[in-house]
Amino acid sequence: YVIGVDLGTSAVKTVLVDPQGKVAFEHSAAYPLKRPQPNWSEQNPEDWVNGTLVSLRRLIETSGVDPSQVDGISFSGQMHGLVLVDSEGKVLRPAILWNDTRTTAQCRKIEKTLGTKLIDIARNKALEGFTLPKILWVQENEPEVLAQAHQFLLPKDYVRFRLTGDYAMDYSDAAGTLLLDVGAKEWSSEIAEAFGLPVSLCPRLVESFEQTGTLLPEIAEASGLLTSTKVFAGGADNACGALGAGILGEGRTMCSIGTSGVVLSYETNKDLNLEGKVHFFNHSEKDAFYIMGVTLAAGHSLTWFKETFAAEKSFEELLQGVTSVPAGSGGLLFTPYISGERTPHPDANIRGSFIGMDSGHTLSHFTRSVLEGITFSLRESIEIVRESGKEITEIVAIGGGAKNEAWLQMQADIFGASIIKLESEQGPAMGAAMLAAYGSGWFGSLGECAEAFIRPAEVFKPNAEQVAVYDGLFALYQEVYGQTRELNN
Ligand code: XUL
Repeated sequence: YVIGVDLGTSAVKTVLVDPQGKVAFEHSAAYPLKRPQPNWSEQNPEDWVNGTLVSLRRLIETSGVDPSQVDGISFSGQMHGLVLVDSEGKVLRPAILWNDTRTTAQCRKIEKTLGTKLIDIARNKALEGFTLPKILWVQENEPEVLAQAHQFLLPKDYVRFRLTGDYAMDYSDAAGTLLLDVGAKEWSSEIAEAFGLPVSLCPRLVESFEQTGTLLPEIAEASGLLTSTKVFAGGADNACGALGAGILGEGRTMCSIGTSGVVLSYETNKDLNLEGKVHFFNHSEKDAFYIMGVTLAAGHSLTWFKETFAAEKSFEELLQGVTSVPAGSGGLLFTPYISGERTPHPDANIRGSFIGMDSGHTLSHFTRSVLEGITFSLRESIEIVRESGKEITEIVAIGGGAKNEAWLQMQADIFGASIIKLESEQGPAMGAAMLAAYGSGWFGSLGECAEAFIRPAEVFKPNAEQVAVYDGLFALYQEVYGQTRELNN
């Protein structure tokens, strides 16, 4: 067996996976998220460690598997979160998470100081969620904390440090800090020095599948595992989600619709420059990359809509109605910017809209237009990937958006690509388990591991008539941002 640990924002999920890629057991443990001030989002790293240990112990106990049968363990983690530790490994302040947006001023400072070098080196725009702006916020607001800092870590790297005593960070997660030279795969001393940060603050860089130690005796005791259990570095949750969906190979693309929505496409060209319109990060496979666009409120738009206008219905009941409404929702168009947007408009202030309401429209028209609006927003990311010269004819759908057949068909028609639904889907935890499986020598490559573990179940092909309707509407959809931004900016 191998174990995958997915350190999420609301909970940690652990899965015990057998050599056929089947999840034998899984467990999850929740922890709180604190919002001590508007725009702040913090967690106590100790809660992650406790949650992980409790979850591992329950996994071993309920499965009845002998711990000596567990070859290795690896991680997937929420990206970008800042953990600062002193020279004794003590946490200096609560972790500042990816969805904390207190750092707008620091983002502007990064852009001003680095100019075009930011995209040349870090390959991404300065966004509030990323790690460097958080470090600069601490530098400005809590200089005594930064003065004591020995290392900065990302969430899963802190948990792994507590499990093994070893400081390390893998490339896929390091790519989300804005301190990594993404193409060269090394810390950028140029960026660190531009802000007076010692490069020694950055941990040792490793590959996601590299072993970074074994479990400390007290951890083996608390988790029910052994001191000989191998620990592999692990990766960013988006990289691990991609692994778990088999996104290994040029042009392979996935669309994940959860609270937020992600379009992610595999890339081998380290020099591809999309001017920061989409994220460009290192993958968890050696020397591979991925392009990623994000719709902030994807599933969140649907949840908001249901809670506000149809709270008494289940999601199933609500979505049943959409098949009785034609493509285009009878002229009703929705933009899903209810909590701002990331791709292609990095704009925290833009807000959503319903346009084209008719007195004949029903709840089902509105529901369908919400699904269409979310999917149009994701198509904008797909078009940026296509502009880079990639042909995208197949997309693996995962997350909540892959659970409804009407929505899967809509994705095929709006994206103009075949949509593949997987047989069983475990998300980033499976990617983490795959890193442990490959790291443990079960397979000759991650690709071989994906072939053994991941099976497609169904294909939804685009319908030419619907594609034509949606192509026309997509052109209109793209106009809405520019026409409505002044309402909120
Ligand atoms: C990626 C991002 C989120 C977090 C969620 O840029 O901010 O997907 O990784 O855990």
